[in-house]
Amino acid sequence: MINALIIICAYLIGSIPSALWIGKIFYKTDIRKQGSGNLGTTNTFRVLGKKPGIAVLLLDIFKGTAAVLLPLLAIFSDSTVHPLILGIVAAAGHMFPIFASFRGGKAVATSAGIILGYNLPLFLVLLTVFIISLKTTKMVSLTSMIASAVAIIYVTINWIVTGEYALFILVAILASFIFYRHRENIIRIKNGTEPKIKGF
Ligand code: G3P
Repeated sequence: MINALIIICAYLIGSIPSALWIGKIFYKTDIRKQGSGNLGTTNTFRVLGKKPGIAVLLLDIFKGTAAVLLPLLAIFSDSTVHPLILGIVAAAGHMFPIFASFRGGKAVATSAGIILGYNLPLFLVLLTVFIISLKTTKMVSLTSMIASAVAIIYVTINWIVTGEYALFILVAILASFIFYRHRENIIRIKNGTEPKIKGF
């Protein structure tokens, strides 16, 4: 029972459509109808600007971190669900949110939050890769996929060296989500039509 409850809770946290709600409540704008139409940080920056973009980024990161840390709550102390399962469920909630007709984002910021809550060194490596790649390519989508690829390499080496396979499985699943959700971006990158960010 408590295991079912914690999984539902992780899904509901992941389902919070911060980009949709911030857009609608504070800007009377449905960002699903503008820019790329994606319910995520990048499209919020693109359509609404810096402040709401930062708010969505932090909230979406927080969703992932909160999900993996749920077992620390006293109410869930008897749960036996692995935190990484909760992270994956939260990422699924972000992509298929019950509060937004199951049409959500691409799980980049939420995945970052999951890794932040579970493995700080990997988070810091990916943050560094992200900043360098974004400065170089100016494309958030390409940068998200480059960071995902680096994460795969990191956890593979980590698995070989330490024998920790749970992190490998988590990252393999999250990276698969991210690549799958970026299939339209991949076509645009190939065609040279993917939008680039300014001022970074
Ligand atoms: O965080 C999603 C990003 O990688 C791409 O978003 O709106 O440019 O498709 P978007």
